[in-house]
Amino acid sequence: MIRYHRSLEQRISPARRLSGEVLLPGDKSISHRYAMLSAIAEGRSKLNNYSGGADCQSTLACLRSLGIEWTKTGSTVEVQGCGLNGLQAPSETLDAGNSGSTIRMLSGILAAQPFQTRIGGDESLSKRPMGRIMTPLAEMGATIQATDGRYPPLEITGGPLRAIDYTLPVASAQVKSCILFAGLYADGTTTVRESIRTRDHTELALREFGADVITRKGIISVEGKPPLKGRELLVPGDLSSAAFYLVAAMIVPNSNVLLQAVGLNPTRAALVDFLVGVGAGIRIPKMEQLGGELVGSLDVKTGTIRGGLIEKELTAALIDEIPVLAVLGAISEEGLTVRDAAELRVKETDRIATVAENFRRMGVSMEETPDGFHIPGKQRFRAAKLDSFGDHRIAMAFSVAALAADGDCVIDNAEAASVSYPEFYDTLRAITQ
Ligand code: S3P
Repeated sequence: MIRYHRSLEQRISPARRLSGEVLLPGDKSISHRYAMLSAIAEGRSKLNNYSGGADCQSTLACLRSLGIEWTKTGSTVEVQGCGLNGLQAPSETLDAGNSGSTIRMLSGILAAQPFQTRIGGDESLSKRPMGRIMTPLAEMGATIQATDGRYPPLEITGGPLRAIDYTLPVASAQVKSCILFAGLYADGTTTVRESIRTRDHTELALREFGADVITRKGIISVEGKPPLKGRELLVPGDLSSAAFYLVAAMIVPNSNVLLQAVGLNPTRAALVDFLVGVGAGIRIPKMEQLGGELVGSLDVKTGTIRGGLIEKELTAALIDEIPVLAVLGAISEEGLTVRDAAELRVKETDRIATVAENFRRMGVSMEETPDGFHIPGKQRFRAAKLDSFGDHRIAMAFSVAALAADGDCVIDNAEAASVSYPEFYDTLRAITQ
């Protein structure tokens, strides 16, 4: 299916119960944005709880190649910003690794630089569509060349940019962010229109760093050439990583897990609403506002899960969680139907295909459609040899499935989890009995 060069495996035994507290790694989406904005702000920034995942390290490495100095102590990253116009031409191709966020968002900044940059990544990234950022950036005045006209590596010839008013053809926060970052370099107001709401971390982060951003009913505008100032910020825990423990605690009998300091931004928290809607026992004992983002604790207990339907706007809001929700769906009473999710086919893997293949190995039935799937409920998980296919969210989703299997499962290429969550298996073991 997908070729990759990783090989470590993890053996996961069925769990009797999960219990304990988990402190999550910093949110991946927010870490990327804070690092990029720190780099082009004036002065120093201090980013606490920066994601330790490989994707966010790829962003830092690209920034270093662009002349940015940063230090990392534990999960704190300090960045010496160079201002909007202080990046330097890199001497080599920038390596975004496995990270779609890095290549798509950073391209917005690179498009405005008075030099040429080449940016690429690993085999999976080299198959991911870039036309979605190339079109608006070309409209703004950048010249970008790509393999077969749309795949990385990208050759970006930057220069002065024009402000545009752009309607997103795909619901994508990465594309929105790319355009807003490019808009920082244009004269006047750059506007992005989205008909389906996507995560708004960029809008919130831009304001924290001092940019003028106005949002109204799916129309987001940023003023060009703002005075960006370095900040000290705390990255909230990653709700998409929390999703694995939420589902695990829901399906393993007698479980109770407390997830601390999780980002609950309303454009991400549809996950919590969805889970509660299908019957999850989730309480939010604490919630506060930190650096523009909502942060809270989630207390989750095992319960009977009804199952449900994910379609339209909800699909976009839950896009990263769908692999682990598929696992929940197979155990639920009524099963799970997912529609309008063609985007899943162009993630780190074709996630509809990689979920289906792992379920096939576990003896779980699933009907694929071009843009979704249906999974009947009340299914049993057979012990099997599973595979991440090099995709972090598939590795973690099927680790959760393995906890509910009738024997030990082995996950091949399990270290893919480190793309967003290097400590995942250790933490999962620490709360598993
Ligand atoms: C992300 C946006 C989503 C998501 C990805 C992170 C972001 O991608 O799937 O994991 O940080 O903006 P798209 O913009 O491609 O929908």
